[in-house]
Amino acid sequence: MMKTAKILIVDDEKVMQDSCEQILKKEGYKVKVASDGKEALRMFKEELFHVVILDIKLPGMDGIEVLSKIKEESPETPVVIMTGFASIESAVDALKSGAFDYLSKPFTPEELRISVRKALESRKIFFEGIYLRKELERQTKFDMVLGKSEGMKKVMDIVKRVSPSESTVLITGESGTGKELIAREIHKHSLRRDAPFVVVDCGALVETLFESELFGHVKGSFTGAHVTKHGRFEVANGGTIFLDEISNISLSIQAKMLRIIQEREVMRIGSSKLIKVDVRLIAATNENLAECVKNGKFREDLFYRLSVVPLHLPPLRDRKEDIPLLIDHFLHKYNRRSKKQIVGLSQDVLKALMQYDWPGNIRELENTIERAVVLSKSDEIELDALIYHGISSGSSLLSPIDGTYRSLEEVEKEYIKTVLQARHGNKSQSAKVLGIDRKTLITKIKKYHIQ
Ligand SMILES: Nc1ncnc2c1ncn2[C@@H]1O[C@H](COP(=O)(O)OP(=O)(O)OP(=O)(O)O)[C@@H](O)[C@H]1O
Ligand SMILES: [Mg+2]
Repeated sequence: MMKTAKILIVDDEKVMQDSCEQILKKEGYKVKVASDGKEALRMFKEELFHVVILDIKLPGMDGIEVLSKIKEESPETPVVIMTGFASIESAVDALKSGAFDYLSKPFTPEELRISVRKALESRKIFFEGIYLRKELERQTKFDMVLGKSEGMKKVMDIVKRVSPSESTVLITGESGTGKELIAREIHKHSLRRDAPFVVVDCGALVETLFESELFGHVKGSFTGAHVTKHGRFEVANGGTIFLDEISNISLSIQAKMLRIIQEREVMRIGSSKLIKVDVRLIAATNENLAECVKNGKFREDLFYRLSVVPLHLPPLRDRKEDIPLLIDHFLHKYNRRSKKQIVGLSQDVLKALMQYDWPGNIRELENTIERAVVLSKSDEIELDALIYHGISSGSSLLSPIDGTYRSLEEVEKEYIKTVLQARHGNKSQSAKVLGIDRKTLITKIKKYHIQ
């Protein structure tokens, strides 16, 4: 970022403009020059500058006013003020108005270079501050990837090969199969590892909020936009952006997203300035995106842009040999967390866990172990500490309630509900589990008024 930084010099004296420009260009920066405040603000509105060097005494609009306008529009941009000989008061005024630093004329090339370098550093810290707060909230969830099954070996092989590249990756897999974990793994092994990994949950917000979350907005661009906000793409600059549940984005945002991917530029809402962003994209979905393309819910061109490297995570039921490994790992994790010393599982518990279908995949297994650790009274987990998500301890459906057995229809209704829930409402998958065809399932759903 440092050497491609763009710097705006604002000064009405030609000699000053030229010498600053020369010094900074030699450093490899891109430099533009404005001769007065109006011109500077116009240029600032159109282009992104990383640092502004601003003379305080300008014809027309004075430097302090230009400074406050810049800070208002873009608080993250450091402004270095140049003051004339012995005007220390104006320097103080400028610092109070938000200037990052000041140089009193005449200054040496080295003074200018150092000031610009420090300014760029401050800008970086500003963004890292935003990113770190978000990242800290998530870090506790972060874990290592485990698995020795053929399926996971293939996945890890792709991860290894794709990580150092810049390719966009589309991770698919059922809910709880580890999509986010794998996305982080790719980032961690990429050259971008020291820059942010920014997660965007595409299903979480209403459209307008989501748009500002992604692209940012400028102060006053809509009701409620009290301050200028940086979009996730800006925050992720230099790093990786993880677009989770990508199938949820609307067609209009898909169009904007496509533009960003092609041009690598974003525009904050309410602004006409294009901001260059250098981000690697990883997207994830538990839906069949190709199917969404067929149904017209997802743009085909965006689909191809995203799925440069497709990576499918197999469901846990297709790699059951990973279960013991994962159980060990989660036992360790939750022992530590709940200060318990559970050594293992009884044989029948392990057998039950191996037999179970795990519709919620690894997340469900993790939750099951966590609960079992908490509930367990001995140092070995027994069957009574096992509560599966959805299908609770197995036989409850068939047990009598207050001594009365249920009718076949009641059991059928409950069972269909349970399976639908476990399959997140997916009718085709549920029908498969139930061993009936989809049409029959739909008829039964109607008959029992299942929501
Ligand atoms: N291979 C693995 N080894 C160890 N832990 C794993 C593995 N895969 C997933 N996990 C753990 O399982 C949990 C769920 O993983 P993750 O959130 O990445 O899944 P997901 O596919 O993004 O799920 P969803 O679709 O529900 O968002 C996390 O706590 C993660 O650390
Ligand atoms: Mg996820």
